[in-house]
Amino acid sequence: MMGYVHLVLLSTFLSVSMTSETFDVMEGEASVIKCPRWSSSVKVTWYHMDTNKIIPAEEEGSRVFSLKHFLWFLPTSREDSGKYTCVTRFPNNRTKSFNVSVQVHPYKQGICFPNQIHYPNDTGRGKIVCPTIDNYKNATIIQWYKDCKPLQGERYFMGEKYIFINNPRKEDDGYYTCRFIYTHKGNVFNVSATRIFISKAKHSPLPPQILFPKDKDVIEVELGAALSLKCQARLGIKKQLMAVVTWDVDNTPVKGLHFSRFHEKTHFFEGREQEYYGETTLHITEVKKEDLQANFTCIVVNEMGNTKATVTLKLKAQYGKIYDAYVIYPRSHTSEANFVEYFVYQIMPDILENKCGYKLCIYGRDIYPGEDTASAIEKRMQKSRRLIILLTNQLINCKEPAYDQHIALYNALIPNNTKVILLEMETIGTYEKLQESLRFIIKQQGTVKWKEQHTVHPQSSNSKFWKQVRYHMPLTAKSSYSANAG
Ligand SMILES: *[C@@H]1O[C@H](CO)[C@@H](O)[C@H](O)[C@H]1NC(C)=O
Ligand SMILES: *[C@@H]1O[C@H](CO)[C@@H](O)[C@H](O)[C@H]1NC(C)=O
Ligand SMILES: *[C@@H]1O[C@H](CO)[C@@H](O)[C@H](O)[C@H]1NC(C)=O
Ligand SMILES: *[C@@H]1O[C@H](CO)[C@@H](O)[C@H](O)[C@H]1NC(C)=O
Ligand SMILES: *[C@@H]1O[C@H](CO)[C@@H](O)[C@H](O)[C@H]1NC(C)=O
Ligand SMILES: *[C@@H]1O[C@H](CO)[C@@H](O)[C@H](O)[C@H]1NC(C)=O
Repeated sequence: MMGYVHLVLLSTFLSVSMTSETFDVMEGEASVIKCPRWSSSVKVTWYHMDTNKIIPAEEEGSRVFSLKHFLWFLPTSREDSGKYTCVTRFPNNRTKSFNVSVQVHPYKQGICFPNQIHYPNDTGRGKIVCPTIDNYKNATIIQWYKDCKPLQGERYFMGEKYIFINNPRKEDDGYYTCRFIYTHKGNVFNVSATRIFISKAKHSPLPPQILFPKDKDVIEVELGAALSLKCQARLGIKKQLMAVVTWDVDNTPVKGLHFSRFHEKTHFFEGREQEYYGETTLHITEVKKEDLQANFTCIVVNEMGNTKATVTLKLKAQYGKIYDAYVIYPRSHTSEANFVEYFVYQIMPDILENKCGYKLCIYGRDIYPGEDTASAIEKRMQKSRRLIILLTNQLINCKEPAYDQHIALYNALIPNNTKVILLEMETIGTYEKLQESLRFIIKQQGTVKWKEQHTVHPQSSNSKFWKQVRYHMPLTAKSSYSANAG
């Protein structure tokens, strides 16, 4: 009651305060509240307005106490919610008082901060300072949270009293809570404080970085073959207004080349973390000799600068590959000559070897009985640049061990990317009985069909059939490219 009387008496000296601040604190944590206006020359008295009692200075074991212009809760309790007044008395006995309101929030599942945040928003480039920590001597930050989830990762740098977010983006906006511990006379208390962070950086460029190719890469090519050169670069976070990813050939932009052999396609996309990528593909419809001397340079530009990577082409190493094609066909077990063997031993070598200059590996001709067949076949296949597989009804309708063995080996070689050419020697009709790997190739590239009419002039390398076969064959010194344009 005395407190009340005292307060009423004081009120006659009071000048009206315009402010009444609210402090939202979490239950069970240490909390310190500062009298809003204060100077070192004034004496401050704290009152609890609901009980009209002066809040005394700290004594042994006190939980709520005043210390100069501070009101301490060690720790807070739900019943501490209410209104408090700090009265400041100047040396001339003039007084001024301020009302403050304290709201203690109980913890709820997934909620680690009060719904009202009173600390100013941090907007900017990524530094978030832990609020109130300076009120607590020797406090140590234990953990930072964003929207109540613990923060960790390389993007966050923890300072003593702040956290720094590397390249903040829109998704970094949110409630940042610092949890620290404060030790008071040997007792340890939790404290947390939360502020809102709003990233300023909406579209931040990063120094342009080419992810591939690597500068000075040398790419193996085949003359006459098509080639795609892809260049991918990271340009920043979110869509960049200034973004260029393009190919130059010998310092001339592809778009200025007017070569129908060269085409460029560019597209931009965002990654999982909204990083912005540009990718451009230079399509060369057929690689020519002069391309082996050219510098292909991927150029990347954004508002932070530019970077480039130059690649050159060289002919695919020929070592190992001593055959242009390995020929797989169903062998006849009867003594009578059949057309397929005639084709394999006579017609094909005559056209592909004698007329076009290819080197074939033919089972029974280049692999002799007595050799350890399986490993001999495998070695030869690996040394062949193409596999030519003949499809006949015989191989579908009767089991043929050597053929199966070949196909099995072929299956093992698929990862080596050896290109396959399927010659449909007889009309097969339905492919359902074929091995799955063969059906897959048929689906992808079809077959080259030997039709009756070709038997009229089978030895003509200019027949449509042989033109198609040669189109799939590797380029050799003897075979001119025009012959391949089937
Ligand atoms: C403080 O609050 C009390 C009770 O609500 C009110 O009577 C008084 O005028 C307020 N004082 C100031 C300075 O606002
Ligand atoms: C202020 O009040 C105290 C007692 O409350 C009194 O002793 C002192 O003389 C006063 N000072 C002035 C400057 O009025
Ligand atoms: C801080 O950010 C929140 C959420 O965007 C907003 O509601 C509030 O008005 C901002 N406060 C200030 C002082 O800008
Ligand atoms: C500060 O706190 C740490 C533990 O958090 C303690 O080891 C250290 O002695 C304290 N320093 C002072 C000056 O109180
Ligand atoms: C501080 O908070 C942590 C995590 O919520 C809790 O495990 C610990 O018991 C608290 N310590 C005190 C002294 O309240
Ligand atoms: C390709 O680049 C190399 C190394 O920078 C240079 O020496 C060469 O002259 C360039 N070639 C052409 C055709 O520009």
